[in-house]
Amino acid sequence: AANDRFVLEIPKVELHMHIEGTLTAELRWKFAQRNGIKLRIAEHGPELNSLEEAKAAMDLLRPDPSRVNNDEERFQFFEAYYEGFECLKTREDYYDLAMHYLEHAAKMNVRYCELFFDPQGHTSRGTSWAVMMEGFREAQKTAETRLNVKSAWIMCFLRDMSLDSAMEHYKAALPYRDIIVGVGLDSNEEDRPPVLFEEVFSLARRDGFKLTMHCDVDSKNTHEHIRQAASVVAGKGLDRIDHGMNAAEKQDLIELIQKRDLGMTICPWSYLRHTTYAELGPKIRTLYDAGIKICINSDDPAYMEDCWVLENLLLVKHLCGFNDKDIAVLAKNAINASWATPTVKNEIL
Ligand code: HPA
Ligand code: ZN
Repeated sequence: AANDRFVLEIPKVELHMHIEGTLTAELRWKFAQRNGIKLRIAEHGPELNSLEEAKAAMDLLRPDPSRVNNDEERFQFFEAYYEGFECLKTREDYYDLAMHYLEHAAKMNVRYCELFFDPQGHTSRGTSWAVMMEGFREAQKTAETRLNVKSAWIMCFLRDMSLDSAMEHYKAALPYRDIIVGVGLDSNEEDRPPVLFEEVFSLARRDGFKLTMHCDVDSKNTHEHIRQAASVVAGKGLDRIDHGMNAAEKQDLIELIQKRDLGMTICPWSYLRHTTYAELGPKIRTLYDAGIKICINSDDPAYMEDCWVLENLLLVKHLCGFNDKDIAVLAKNAINASWATPTVKNEIL
């Protein structure tokens, strides 16, 4: 619609996007063909023999508000998400994966992004750090020079793996720290509170990395996990919180986040796996009205009916009744919550 032009045209910053969450059926098919490997949607699932079969399998993973709070659905998501890693083998695959996102980002006027990647999911399949990081680095360079999209990487530890594994991967990443701006935590949150990773997050802060962490909306200890992320881990709490939307339910958490002036990355489409439309708008509105630096992001676009940051902004515009001024505030929040240098921040404004 004509009145959505503002949302399309405004310069954007995206801070919560898993590069492995952009593995669409098309990309999976392309990489599997190129590498001569069998494509499956889950480790023990049937082989997918055509692009159409791959698309149909991905379609079943879209958020469906009629299946809200279904544990089965969460497991299906993670199974498919990690199975997707199997089709990535070469430096060219990692380059193409990153370029696919960055080209789409350019079309939406995303000018700067901080992209998550999950190194443990790749090294456990025998991929070397050099293959991964040199592919990413090349894509970053190309995007900056040809597309005017700048980017940095956030290395996420898988919280369902051990602290030892996180420490090992942290050390292995140091040769690539020139392109890694921060450290995050993702994957299945069940029984994996933020404090379990205290050691690696403290070390990363001492070494100069920025810190963030997922606090998923369907976590059973959602409020306690948000509290730990906001005020306990690495001495005083992290530099940003990913999701954390349930803070809207607790005044003390709202005040804590306000006091620490933490940015929060909100991914509306993602929450439709666990939240109804009726709950979603008011929660986001509460955080926004409290003056918290929330920004809007896409999380795993390939799993969300191809909803990228633009579509997520349009969804909150609709659900929260945001006008163009509000959209501009959200865009500004993303710049302020980002870990870009002051020079880069100024270029975007
Ligand atoms: N939650 C936790 N970890 C993830 C997600 C998510 O939605 N997507 C990719 N890794
Ligand atoms: Zn995420």
